[in-house]
Amino acid sequence: MIKGIKGVKDILPEETPRWRLIEDTARRWAMWYGFQEIRVPIFEVTTLFARSIGATTDIVEKEMYTFADRDGSSLTLRPEGTAGTVRAFIEHNRAADPLPQKYCYLGPMFRHERPQAGRLRQFHQFGVESFGVSDPRADVEVISLLWRILSHLRLQGLTLEMNSLGYQEDRVRYKPVLVDYLKTVAVRLCGNCQRRLETNPLRVLDCKVPECRAATEAAPRLTDHLSPAATDHFNQVLRGLESVGIPVHLNPRLVRGLDYYCLTTFEVTASGLGAQNAVGAGGRYDGLVEQLDGPKVPAVGFAVGLERISLMLPPDTVVPATPRVYVAAFGEKAAPSGFQLLDELRRQGVPADMDFRSGTLKAHLRQADRLGVLYTVLLGDDEIAKGSAIVRNMQTKAQEEVVLSDLPTTLKTRLSSA
Ligand code: HAM
Repeated sequence: MIKGIKGVKDILPEETPRWRLIEDTARRWAMWYGFQEIRVPIFEVTTLFARSIGATTDIVEKEMYTFADRDGSSLTLRPEGTAGTVRAFIEHNRAADPLPQKYCYLGPMFRHERPQAGRLRQFHQFGVESFGVSDPRADVEVISLLWRILSHLRLQGLTLEMNSLGYQEDRVRYKPVLVDYLKTVAVRLCGNCQRRLETNPLRVLDCKVPECRAATEAAPRLTDHLSPAATDHFNQVLRGLESVGIPVHLNPRLVRGLDYYCLTTFEVTASGLGAQNAVGAGGRYDGLVEQLDGPKVPAVGFAVGLERISLMLPPDTVVPATPRVYVAAFGEKAAPSGFQLLDELRRQGVPADMDFRSGTLKAHLRQADRLGVLYTVLLGDDEIAKGSAIVRNMQTKAQEEVVLSDLPTTLKTRLSSA
């Protein structure tokens, strides 16, 4: 038997209503905030990701699904959505259009990570990217959108962690200070961090290994080495968040696993998620558009993991079901008429169903119950003779006789008030 790939999950029909609720909520809030949906490809040339996410990041070094195209060029399944969105922004010369340009996206991403609860190899992100505004209120806008979506979905135990990575010059000044310190504790660091000490020292601060955390407890903080302009930006973001009532937890260790960030970085964690506790994350990336050969355009965004949101949806979440109608047509004449009626109802926009295997009224009613429909249309040979049908409310069991030609309108009215 052929099985699905490890870390790549099917989302079964009983799960999709929850997914749709999450997706619809995220999209709707993003639209209210003025973001418009963009759909970018699932695969891109490998250099796009190497140059944007960073050649020495875990994602690029060991997690990408990279393969050779038939002409030998290197392609990669997107591990995240920012790089492709920035590529599209540049390629379609969007900087020439009135700014800001605010995009949102939703879709599968691919990372070869060790699968566990909330961590998959094919996972789904909803993300937003706002191009063109360096004002700190643009940071507050995307963070508040993230917070509102998660709050609307009633996720519990959320914490918004914030840090500032400053400008590139700030990090250039800070790195040797950090490296000097890290060298004094190098023997206590894990193998990965000893390597990072050379390649990407900031990432050592973010390591989850307890020994590394203890060793870096007293490390000099980037926030103490920020330029006045970077400090001012950060303070304005914090004040902005306070002004819209969003609580913040400062986390000087938050350096993120992607290299394109500057100034604001943030992560929303959830207490109920175990080791993979980040529901969503993002930050400002003012240099990325230019770094990918575009114009100088500031930008800020976030992405949330839909699997992680789905794991955290409160159990009493009401997932709107499609209110449906079942057509129970039994009897020699009624059966073919029932099929026509089913088609007519569907054409008129009434979600309707029928089990073609059922012959008796009893079998039809059993099927109607199983489908959980709101109304069943009973159509026997007697009804056909009268040109009418019986509409049965499956909850109250009340029945009414309706002329066949009035059925679509009557059912639409009943369903819209259900
Ligand atoms: P990220 O932190 O790598 O950021 O991913 C964002 C979210 O995607 C995570 O918080 C998590 O919920 C989810 N996620 C990541 N990896 C996995 C996985 N293997 N399995 C399940 N869920 C996962 C980014 O991707 C940036 N592009 C965010 C951004 C947008 N920054 C600016 N704009």
